Amino acid sequence: MKLLLTNIKELLQVRENFPTKLSGKEMAELPTLKNAWLYINHGIIEDYGIMAKMGPHQGFKTIDCSGKTVLPAWCDSHSHIVYAGNREQEFVDRINGLSYQEIAEKGGGIVNSAKKLQETSEEDLYHQSAARLEEVMKLGTGAIEIKSGYGLTTDAELKMLRVAKKLAEEYPITIKTTFLGAHAIPTEYKGNKDGYLDLLCNEMLPKVAEESLAEYIDIFCEEGYFSVADMDRVLSEGKKYNLIPKVHVNQFNSIGGIASAVKHKALSVDHLEVFTDEDLAALKNSETMPVALPSCSYFLSIPYTPGRKIIDAGLPLALATDYNPGSTPSGNMNFVVATACIKMRLTPEEAINAATINGAYAMGLSETHGSICRGKVANLIITKPIPSYGYLPYAFGSNLIDSVIIGGKEVK
Ligand code: NIG
Ligand code: FE
Repeated sequence: MKLLLTNIKELLQVRENFPTKLSGKEMAELPTLKNAWLYINHGIIEDYGIMAKMGPHQGFKTIDCSGKTVLPAWCDSHSHIVYAGNREQEFVDRINGLSYQEIAEKGGGIVNSAKKLQETSEEDLYHQSAARLEEVMKLGTGAIEIKSGYGLTTDAELKMLRVAKKLAEEYPITIKTTFLGAHAIPTEYKGNKDGYLDLLCNEMLPKVAEESLAEYIDIFCEEGYFSVADMDRVLSEGKKYNLIPKVHVNQFNSIGGIASAVKHKALSVDHLEVFTDEDLAALKNSETMPVALPSCSYFLSIPYTPGRKIIDAGLPLALATDYNPGSTPSGNMNFVVATACIKMRLTPEEAINAATINGAYAMGLSETHGSICRGKVANLIITKPIPSYGYLPYAFGSNLIDSVIIGGKEVK
């Protein structure tokens, strides 16, 4: 399948030098080509250039992109898109005054989703999750990470990961999977956290590894959930199966999780709504990507990750959705990019870099995704006619996407 995009008003994120991630001041630059063409062959970006220098490409399907901007599809490096049902009632409870933590203490929250998921068949779970996946693809997401963590029993955790794997087989979007058995202490193990961690280490992890169901390992390191010592145990155990850490830290409290994750060579540390100078120092000179989840802050009315401070300190930053039923029932990366500009004071260039190249890095996909490079996967967003790319976060409530191409296929 060959596809030619012509008369592109502006082609964003054109990189000749394949950077794996962008840090600090580098994030302020977004290289573009004006009045460009781009040629896709068998799902790969084969070539691109300016219209004045386009050679003959006869007989290809051509999309005229006059007035339109083209950019790499979003790379969403943190999601929990495989889940069952919803938590609308907890949303209303929060409106009526309960906090996210109070709801969890009353038996709601993650264990509520786990109960629903355990009662849902694998087939039903697949269909519920596929509907969300189709939705986010149409919103411009071309690669996504999916976590387990709403199973909390061996069977249900495996069920979640199998569903994620099946989605990866059925859809053109690139999917990376993460084992998050340590998401919450299941009700049956209340008061016996170590018993649950024994189950996780001795039964769940070997089975996840045996079926090659995950590449990454995660833990919710937070007061009331799992401690830094628990994280140390789980990540060390995961390492035996070559699972690379990508962890939930500093959502509500800074308890030393970042330093420990860096020590374990985590690929990313995610959330960071509470972020101290010690946390910042721990990330300096590391290869660990800080990941901000601004839709979670928006939905829970909690602080935003200090993205400005992180970038000004010379660090990289990635943006992701956290799509899940409790803290972020939205998988819209366009909203994430806009909210990062509006609430975290990222410039449009920084936010687009954070949601493309740096998002790809946080999923181990830098070589193939996140920028317009010859040989990379043809994952592209074609916008409606817009004045310039800054209009994307500016007009935050509009759907400005005209078409989406994933793996060379038009999905919208
Ligand atoms: O990333 N914080 C931990 N996990 C999810 C939310 C879990 C839930 O409320 O269902 C998150 O926000
Ligand atoms: Fe999350």
